[in-house]
Amino acid sequence: MSKTNLHTQLLEKIETGLKALDLPGSPVSLYEPYRYALSVGGKRIRPILALVSCGLCKGKVDDALPAALALEILHNFTLVHDDIMDSAETRRGEPSVYKKWSEDVAILSGDVMFADAYKQLAFYGHSEEYSKEEFAAIHDVFTQSVITVCEGQALDMEFVDRDSVTRDEYLEMISGKTAALISGALEMGAIAAHASTEQREQLASLGVEMGLAFQIQDDLLDATANPEKFGKRPGGDIFEGKKTYLTIFALERANTSQQQLIRQVLDENEPTQERVDHVLDTMKELNVLDDVAAQVQKHYQKAGELLHSFADSEYKQELQNLLNFLQNRDH
Ligand code: IPE
Ligand code: IPE
Ligand code: MG
Ligand code: MG
Ligand code: MG
Repeated sequence: MSKTNLHTQLLEKIETGLKALDLPGSPVSLYEPYRYALSVGGKRIRPILALVSCGLCKGKVDDALPAALALEILHNFTLVHDDIMDSAETRRGEPSVYKKWSEDVAILSGDVMFADAYKQLAFYGHSEEYSKEEFAAIHDVFTQSVITVCEGQALDMEFVDRDSVTRDEYLEMISGKTAALISGALEMGAIAAHASTEQREQLASLGVEMGLAFQIQDDLLDATANPEKFGKRPGGDIFEGKKTYLTIFALERANTSQQQLIRQVLDENEPTQERVDHVLDTMKELNVLDDVAAQVQKHYQKAGELLHSFADSEYKQELQNLLNFLQNRDH
């Protein structure tokens, strides 16, 4: 599925905004990795959602740009640190920051990105178009999203050391590490448009469904995508012993010897490619992939239903297009 004109226009606004950040040249070890993290082509989903949500709530789309930039910088900060936590050597088909430089450099560049993300929000405090309450609301939604992402990331790591994780525990973990920022993006766009509390809440709920779909799909792509397109190590979650819907579904329906194999490989520090492929083949035999794909569709569908109550507009159409675009993504 190709991008709509509006999608392309919004992407241009975001790229222009990111360039205008005009990061300092030195210290080189601080800003070069920051520039690198932002430059190597992400999908920019969270900033796009903030802009679309603002348009959907009849705001001026440019008013959501500072929030959009804050979200994209913050997102990239989470990836820089996530790749250290996940020992992930590639990101978007290129070496991850800690691999290209070092862990020390990745930690500190991540820190400055985190601060720089917050810096973007000052716009809403200075602008006369926003009340004190609205500035506080944007700030609170962003902060709560960041806290919830950290909680999700903590659970993600804790689950690695657990023998088993329930479906509900997995959903709680991904609603933190991924859905919180996607939901926050939609809610921040609504606040930037001076939307009603009702609209804000509706968009936040839509974002949660979208975020769940997005992460379940990321887990599925981790096992099935063409690595050239996906830009991350194939089977990376299995190498790292991650608990995903794939492993949870597989363990639910595996016989004793299959269960043993899956548990052992997830537990191993450095499983061989052959062992990881064996787990992937077992998942296919157990028909896990189709059922996980059905869960992805279910959550995107719920997100689409939460859009119905909004008045028709090009932004409503665009949000539906984005849901379709993401459903069909290969990276
Ligand atoms: C990757 O997010 C991290 C997850 C939450 C799965 P994206 O898939 O949005 O990453 P980029 O920015 O497009 O590379
Ligand atoms: C990432 O989840 C969530 C955050 C970065 C907050 P993953 O660890 O699955 O993301 P990828 O697969 O590395 O992009
Ligand atoms: Mg991770
Ligand atoms: Mg990761
Ligand atoms: Mg992943």
